[in-house]
Amino acid sequence: MERFAVTTERPYDILIGKGILDQSGKYIKECVNPCRVCIITDSKVNKLYSKILSSSLEENGFETHKIVFPEGEYSKSIATYANVLESLAEKAFSRSDIIIALGGGVVGDLSGFAAATYLRGIRYIQIPTTYLAAVDSSVGGKTAVNLLSGKNLAGAFWQPSMVICDYKTFDSMEEAFLLDGVAEAIKSGMIMESSLIDRVLAKDYGKVIERCVSIKKSVVEADERDIGMRQLLNFGHTIGHGIEKLSSYRISHGRAVAMGMVVESKAAFKMGLTGYDASEYLTEVLTKCGFDLNLPYSAEQLYKYAKNDKKISADSISMVIPEAIGKCRLQKILLSDLERFIQLGIK
Ligand code: GLY
Repeated sequence: MERFAVTTERPYDILIGKGILDQSGKYIKECVNPCRVCIITDSKVNKLYSKILSSSLEENGFETHKIVFPEGEYSKSIATYANVLESLAEKAFSRSDIIIALGGGVVGDLSGFAAATYLRGIRYIQIPTTYLAAVDSSVGGKTAVNLLSGKNLAGAFWQPSMVICDYKTFDSMEEAFLLDGVAEAIKSGMIMESSLIDRVLAKDYGKVIERCVSIKKSVVEADERDIGMRQLLNFGHTIGHGIEKLSSYRISHGRAVAMGMVVESKAAFKMGLTGYDASEYLTEVLTKCGFDLNLPYSAEQLYKYAKNDKKISADSISMVIPEAIGKCRLQKILLSDLERFIQLGIK
């Protein structure tokens, strides 16, 4: 098992291993004294893993409770979030108790936001069970739900007390869902570490998670609140979030980010912001991984959603510009140039 210490305002450990879920109660006891635990999960993950987790917690002296909501991006809503808060209150959870987010990105983001806001904040632990959550969303303390206007528009920064990643859980994932993690891992390779992309192609899950977590740890430690270099992690996301929303979330996050990286790279090159056209390399690698990169939306449609992006401040938006494979920089683009930027990216 590998262990990474993340030194954010509230420090925590990330544990990565294959087949460690049934030991999780023992690990959690390292950072939280036995108390009441609310496992928050979705209908799919509940059937697969909540019993293993609750048995391990109970063996280690924790009292377990559970909240289950339907699987899928549509659950990442204010309505589900409100139901979770009401359930926590009905169960009389207090600030000395903890939440465990058991599942993928939707479960992690929503449960984290509930933890950040219930009683003005209680502790929580992330147990990612998908490739996407393991390589990206479970680390770094970004929590959120979607609004009707767009993705992740209501949320908080709230660091977990521990992250336990058992990548044996990927055995139960269909290839189509694994692709979401592939896109985020390739994104991390593009922004900071070209050799990571070869590991992604080799499906070396353990090493890919370790490298992604290590990259993310360094970025989050330098910019916990996403006001500077952390925005590099948003490569492909300005366009990607628009694609997800326009498709009513039928196009999953990873697939949308894959298309978004190609569009943003081509746009940056055609606008003369970089001498390197990463879109050619990305198209080749992403196609090899099995992504369909045919973009079903127009520049006008994508612009409408990009205008709501969280990286906008005043009259500009921060975009990630690839300079080489494994090297990106941030650059502000005037909002008045954003529609042209997107048009150049999809031509
Ligand atoms: N998923 C991007 C970030 O955590 O900053």
